[in-house]
Amino acid sequence: MKFNAPLVLALAGVALAKGNSTNSQCKEVAKLTRLNDIVANTTLLNEYTDNNATKAAELEAKAAAGNTTLATLSSNTTLMTTCYQIFAVEDMEDDCDEMDAIQQANVVAANATLLAKYTKNNATKAAEFQAKVSAKAATLDALQSNTTLTAFCSTLNDKSSCKSMAKLIKQQDLVANTTALNDKFNGNATKVANYQAKVSAKAAKLATLMSNTTLLSTCEGLGITTAADVAQAAAIATTTASAKSAAVVVSPMAGAKVIALVSGLVYAIAML
Ligand SMILES: *[C@@H]1O[C@H](CO)[C@@H](O)[C@H](O)[C@H]1NC(C)=O
Ligand SMILES: *[C@@H]1O[C@H](CO)[C@@H](O)[C@H](O)[C@H]1NC(C)=O
Ligand SMILES: *[C@@H]1O[C@H](CO)[C@@H](O)[C@H](O)[C@H]1NC(C)=O
Ligand SMILES: *[C@@H]1O[C@H](CO)[C@@H](O)[C@H](O)[C@H]1NC(C)=O
Ligand SMILES: *[C@@H]1O[C@H](CO)[C@@H](O)[C@H](O)[C@H]1NC(C)=O
Ligand SMILES: *[C@@H]1O[C@H](CO)[C@@H](O)[C@H](O)[C@H]1NC(C)=O
Ligand SMILES: *[C@@H]1O[C@H](CO)[C@@H](O)[C@H](O)[C@H]1NC(C)=O
Ligand SMILES: *[C@@H]1O[C@H](CO)[C@@H](O)[C@H](O)[C@H]1NC(C)=O
Ligand SMILES: *[C@@H]1O[C@H](CO)[C@@H](O)[C@H](O)[C@H]1NC(C)=O
Ligand SMILES: *[C@@H]1O[C@H](CO)[C@@H](O)[C@H](O)[C@H]1NC(C)=O
Ligand SMILES: *[C@@H]1O[C@H](CO)[C@@H](O)[C@H](O)[C@H]1NC(C)=O
Repeated sequence: MKFNAPLVLALAGVALAKGNSTNSQCKEVAKLTRLNDIVANTTLLNEYTDNNATKAAELEAKAAAGNTTLATLSSNTTLMTTCYQIFAVEDMEDDCDEMDAIQQANVVAANATLLAKYTKNNATKAAEFQAKVSAKAATLDALQSNTTLTAFCSTLNDKSSCKSMAKLIKQQDLVANTTALNDKFNGNATKVANYQAKVSAKAAKLATLMSNTTLLSTCEGLGITTAADVAQAAAIATTTASAKSAAVVVSPMAGAKVIALVSGLVYAIAML
């Protein structure tokens, strides 16, 4: 599995910077810059203050007061180099979200069943939605034709799948460990059974993720899971019945039902 090194580095950099002072300094730079942009643009200033002159004056004072901090932070080229990297990644993440949302909206717009469902059979609303989606065609095209962006989004999606897999593996490990399970739920059989049912309902999803060797090597490359994690999870899955019955005496997993994965449709619905 080959990685686009700068992209992986950028992703890793963001993870590193989280909760550290560089990150908060970059946030401050972004906030103060935005504030300056607003006060410098009458249209924006009116929009943000609902044409309230008092509020506008307050914002202007805030921007002026923040300018010293902004100047100090901006003069640190080491800091700014990191900030620009963080901002670029954030911008690309936003673009990935937008691309995803428009794609999902297109699926709905082209599917009469889904369209009727999400517009509650309101034909006017359906037509409005389709028009909105059509109006985004050029935006989608521009995003999709940018290979830098699509490569980044693909890495981002992989990262999210890897995290999801790591979480499911951890949950499965826990379910297989009677001691840990009873510790976590203070020996409450109801809670244990509920948790087992929850984890059991996600077994198919985990199996699908773990069967994808391309994804597995990506996850290892990103340092999110190891081959040992996956091997252990696979071993647990094959002895899952005994592992579960070894837990405290619990009612059978009657409540276990496969919960449909939340699809990207939420984005599409948000556009309605
Ligand atoms: C903060 O994040 C930056 C950028 O990732 C890193 O170089 C730096 O070592 C981190 N500082 C601390 C105190 O963790
Ligand atoms: C001011 O903000 C408005 C609204 O975002 C934008 O359309 C306009 O181009 C901006 N004007 C300038 C001079 O940047
Ligand atoms: C304008 O904003 C100020 C400060 O936030 C507030 O006290 C005042 O009530 C606002 N005026 C109007 C007309 O909303
Ligand atoms: C902040 O500083 C910038 C750059 O020097 C300047 O253009 C801007 O007018 C200042 N903003 C305020 C609110 O004083
Ligand atoms: C510039 O920023 C870097 C990274 O945040 C920091 O380590 C360094 O101390 C700062 N330099 C100055 C002069 O503040
Ligand atoms: C439309 O969506 C429904 C519900 O998700 C699905 O069952 C059906 O196959 C879709 N139709 C087409 C033509 O894709
Ligand atoms: C259908 O949607 C349109 C546009 O959103 C709305 O004006 C209308 O009231 C809706 N009709 C019904 C019956 O809800
Ligand atoms: C492609 O996307 C990247 C990252 O968002 C951006 O820096 C670059 O300008 C875009 N290229 C084009 C041709 O739009
Ligand atoms: C099960 O969990 C307990 C308590 O967290 C831990 O000490 C033990 O090593 C775990 N056993 C296995 C086989 O992982
Ligand atoms: C066990 O958990 C269930 C569900 O949260 C709760 O209703 C019940 O009271 C708990 N039983 C004991 C003995 O704490
Ligand atoms: C396996 O994962 C890769 C990387 O996330 C993905 O592109 C591919 O579609 C997946 N294959 C299957 C069969 O799901």
